[in-house]
Amino acid sequence: MTSTEEHLAHNYHPLEVTIATGDGAWVTDVAGKRYLDCLAAYSAVNFGHGHPALIAAAKAQLDRVTLTSRAFHNDQLGPFATVLAELAGKDMVLPMNTGAEAVESAIKVARAWGYRVKGVPADRATIIVADGNFHGRTTTVISFSNDPDARADFGPYTPGFVSVPYGDAAALEAAIDETTVAVLLEPIQGEAGIVIPPESYLPAVREITRRHNVLFIADEIQSGLGRTGATFQCDNVGVVPDLYLLGKALGGGIVPVSAVVGNADILGVLKPGQHGSTFGGNPLAAAVGLAVVELLQTGQMQERARMLGQKLQARLRALIGHGVLEVRGAGLWAGVDIDPALATGRHVCELLMARGVLAKDTHGSTIRFAPPIVVEAADLDWAVDQLEAVLQELAA
Ligand SMILES: Cc1ncc(COP(=O)(O)O)c(C=O)c1O
Repeated sequence: MTSTEEHLAHNYHPLEVTIATGDGAWVTDVAGKRYLDCLAAYSAVNFGHGHPALIAAAKAQLDRVTLTSRAFHNDQLGPFATVLAELAGKDMVLPMNTGAEAVESAIKVARAWGYRVKGVPADRATIIVADGNFHGRTTTVISFSNDPDARADFGPYTPGFVSVPYGDAAALEAAIDETTVAVLLEPIQGEAGIVIPPESYLPAVREITRRHNVLFIADEIQSGLGRTGATFQCDNVGVVPDLYLLGKALGGGIVPVSAVVGNADILGVLKPGQHGSTFGGNPLAAAVGLAVVELLQTGQMQERARMLGQKLQARLRALIGHGVLEVRGAGLWAGVDIDPALATGRHVCELLMARGVLAKDTHGSTIRFAPPIVVEAADLDWAVDQLEAVLQELAA
């Protein structure tokens, strides 16, 4: 803990680095030391620190108007919703701020759809989720987490959720009954350690949910918007969910922007007064979100993540047997399991930090790599060189 943080709640355990500035894939600490950012704020900084187009959009909007509330229209929100809906191939956007709010919003929408459209008896709606999920930190969202740290002492929990093993379509189908309104899944489980389901899983979930008249909600808050080499991870497996949940990178690493994106037959269940947020859809957020969608419209970010990702995955896989037990990944996103006999993930992250690479451990021995997509290929190579050197150092 730095001396400036003694008045901060201890709900995080950061690495001992205090960042002062950022530029592209690089950040600089208060002492002037540079680090390659291989976390990118959990994929919220997919397009790099200070991306010129995003900063320009934010600066221009700062000089115009930043907050109107939804009591009035603002001239940024409509255009943002239009391009985002188009990007997702849907017709409506529900704008919110944080990822957890998007998840909460989708839960409300799915329940209302269940009662008003599907005809589920009042207050009986259930939503199927997957073991190992991470969808945020609100009381309802942690109610269906299996992580004791996320849950313990925060009850009583919100009812109405059933958790099934991730990656097992048969178990999911068996859990469906007449009260089921939705299935909520991460296409890749990020916080669980970049857990990738079998390739047939999401297509099977799509087929099962369609057959049972159950909504398929894809939480693409971490996996979406370029990270996996596509606009959505669902694209990579040829699946179109009913609702996309977006966040993180949608705000360009500048402001929190999240959204639920879907068609009018589902999102249209919300009527005035039934849901909202003071900041949701504010003009600053909408201006930045619009610039983010414009970046994604060209497909260049997605392509870059795909190309660089192949390189990253290949280099990381070469470390298996040399202090690494397993590598999982998609696009420019990788989970690396460090041999616990060698070191903890935290210790490896500390040694990487000393060498100028910032990465983050999860679940004890997994390290995730998710650098900004704008990272230079040579810098990415250099970062893996540092990991290789750390593992050699630890084995010596
Ligand atoms: C898949 C997923 N959903 C939801 C969230 C919650 O987002 P936020 O922290 O913005 O509330 C996260 C955050 O890590 C996430 O990875």
